[in-house]
Amino acid sequence: MLEIKNLSKSFENIKALDSVSLSIAKGEFFGLLGPNGAGKTTLMNLIIGFLKADSGSILFDNEEVKYGDPAIKNRIGYVPQDIALYQELTALQNLKIFGSFYKMSKKDLTDNIHEALELVQLSDRKNSAVKEFSGGMKRRLNLAASILHRPDVLLCDEPTVGVDPQSRNAIFEMLQKLNREGITIIYTTHYMEEAERLCDRLAIIDNGRIIANGTLMELLKILDRKATIKIQKTRESMELLEQLNNVAEINELDYKYELILNNDNQTYTELFSYFESINLSPDLVEINRASLEDVFLYMTGRRIRD
Ligand SMILES: Nc1ncnc2c1ncn2[C@@H]1O[C@H](COP(=O)(O)OP(=O)(O)O)[C@@H](O)[C@H]1O
Ligand SMILES: [Mg+2]
Repeated sequence: MLEIKNLSKSFENIKALDSVSLSIAKGEFFGLLGPNGAGKTTLMNLIIGFLKADSGSILFDNEEVKYGDPAIKNRIGYVPQDIALYQELTALQNLKIFGSFYKMSKKDLTDNIHEALELVQLSDRKNSAVKEFSGGMKRRLNLAASILHRPDVLLCDEPTVGVDPQSRNAIFEMLQKLNREGITIIYTTHYMEEAERLCDRLAIIDNGRIIANGTLMELLKILDRKATIKIQKTRESMELLEQLNNVAEINELDYKYELILNNDNQTYTELFSYFESINLSPDLVEINRASLEDVFLYMTGRRIRD
């Protein structure tokens, strides 16, 4: 659906994007994970044609996206990183204004506004002024404003920054619902937990370059770090360990046994069915695996959030 090829963009002497190539399929929930200043917002602005690339190309359904082309805006929704709302106006008035940017009959706009307000759970607050809203409510209204024209693709630029955990979960669920309904989502974040939780596939971006790209499992495999499972030492767990020699290397620690697993699914399955067969309580088992943060650290020598 979206093919990005060798895209570069500089601002004076800052190379914000350096030959970025990505391909995003229809229906995907695609993540773009990277620290502040990595180039995420620049990439979004290029995709929607707000910025002009220095070189490279973006194809949207095999058609080249041109700088400033209004046609693309009818098919893409954009939730900007900075909340763009009229504070003095009500939620409903805001949506009427944002909706008027698109070609739509009055009836379609009214229906779509109603539906968007339902989705973001603000129907009962539609007549309140935005300045009375919490950070999370503003974020949700920003999201509603971006889907009034029923886009095929939704670009979400760090939509949970400054949002309380409850609202954050609500936003995740709203986006997942839209995605299930068929909207392709491109989601930027500097929170690796969000990328792990939400995205089918993701790219890690740093200093304008894509440094890794794939499914979560593919990215974690870059490290070739073996998962470890720790089991609390109890009278029962002492003997059972002998049975596990074939699936894992076992180390005896002070209070725990540490199993170092070969990274394959069969090992996991065998191990957990074995635990079940001996009624080993899951409360005694602790699993540790690599995270995207570890991948980022490995590739760059830095943490995502310094
Ligand atoms: N309009 C601009 N003028 C000058 N520099 C910019 C501009 N927009 C972005 N940059 C620079 O480009 C780099 C990437 O920025 P940005 O795309 O906003 O990163 P991110 O969204 O990942 O935090 C940063 O170094 C930033 O300072
Ligand atoms: Mg940004």
